[in-house]
Amino acid sequence: MARVMGDPAQRETIFGFSGVAAKIAAVAILLLSVSLLLSALPEEYGTSSGVRDLIRKLYFLPILLSASWFAARGAAAATVVATVACLGIFGGSWPADPSMQAARMGETGVFWLVGALSASFFEQQIKHFLEVETANENTLIALASALDMREHSTGVHSQRVADYTIRLAGEMKIRDRSLLEILWKGGLLHDVGKIGIPDSVLLKSGPLTEEEWEIMRRHPEIGCSMLRRISFLREPSEIVLCHHERFDGSGYPRGFAGKAIPLGARIFAAVDVYDALTTVRVYHGAASHAEGVSALRRGAGSHFDPDVVAAFERIPYEDWAAIARKNATSPGPETAWDQTASMDPAAPSAI
Ligand SMILES: [Fe+2]
Repeated sequence: MARVMGDPAQRETIFGFSGVAAKIAAVAILLLSVSLLLSALPEEYGTSSGVRDLIRKLYFLPILLSASWFAARGAAAATVVATVACLGIFGGSWPADPSMQAARMGETGVFWLVGALSASFFEQQIKHFLEVETANENTLIALASALDMREHSTGVHSQRVADYTIRLAGEMKIRDRSLLEILWKGGLLHDVGKIGIPDSVLLKSGPLTEEEWEIMRRHPEIGCSMLRRISFLREPSEIVLCHHERFDGSGYPRGFAGKAIPLGARIFAAVDVYDALTTVRVYHGAASHAEGVSALRRGAGSHFDPDVVAAFERIPYEDWAAIARKNATSPGPETAWDQTASMDPAAPSAI
């Protein structure tokens, strides 16, 4: 969870790069290092010495890494480079003896065989992984939709705020796919703990008593304890736990303040309130986009992280509207996004 709690710049890096760029850099550096090593080998090692042959076998490393990271295309690219280098382009190490030439050709053939087999293996693994991931995501969406149906009569609130969270995270320069997945899952399941709140409290139309509020405030901890037992939901569970914390420390359940609140939860808090204001609820109508943004601005530094609010304001209204429309597929009174008038930034409040 530390990756979500901390600054996005601290996410996993290789050679100072992150994500795909880091992997490409790692493979390129390995290929270049082996090639330079071969070209720098003293002449007394000849064109087919044991040392030179051993170093050439190091080309398998970038080939296998490329196959595992980029499947067939990565393996092919790394194998082409290894083949070109091994055939003597670097260091002029092409042997004069025909039998040694045949051995060298055989060696490059093995590069292609290993490249093809490893690419095939990793392609299968990636396909299987994506199938499992899709099945997991669909299960989570179904769970979130069922919870939304219970509380809001429509099943799209959680998907909408999850998508808002991703858009806002992108504006805050979070690009790492695994981090974005954590944020999306945390947003989608933020209120999963409400499954433990009785209908008499959750669905009460009037104001809650202090005792009922005490019960309602348990939902972040209930949700967190449900999710943290599942390995791929352990990091999103931190967002679930902290989604009602406030930047000034006046939130619940822990009373965390400032950067002690996970970044994902700080981002989510803003979009959750924005969504609550700009959709029809039991206790109010739908505010306009401008009013939603204005409420966030008023809460910057107290309820919300000012950096998050600043990023929110940089996002064009059209982006929020597009996400809202995408997630307003279910009929019902909960959402106002399909009511064009309420989407106008200059429209008066429906409250
Ligand atoms: Fe909540």
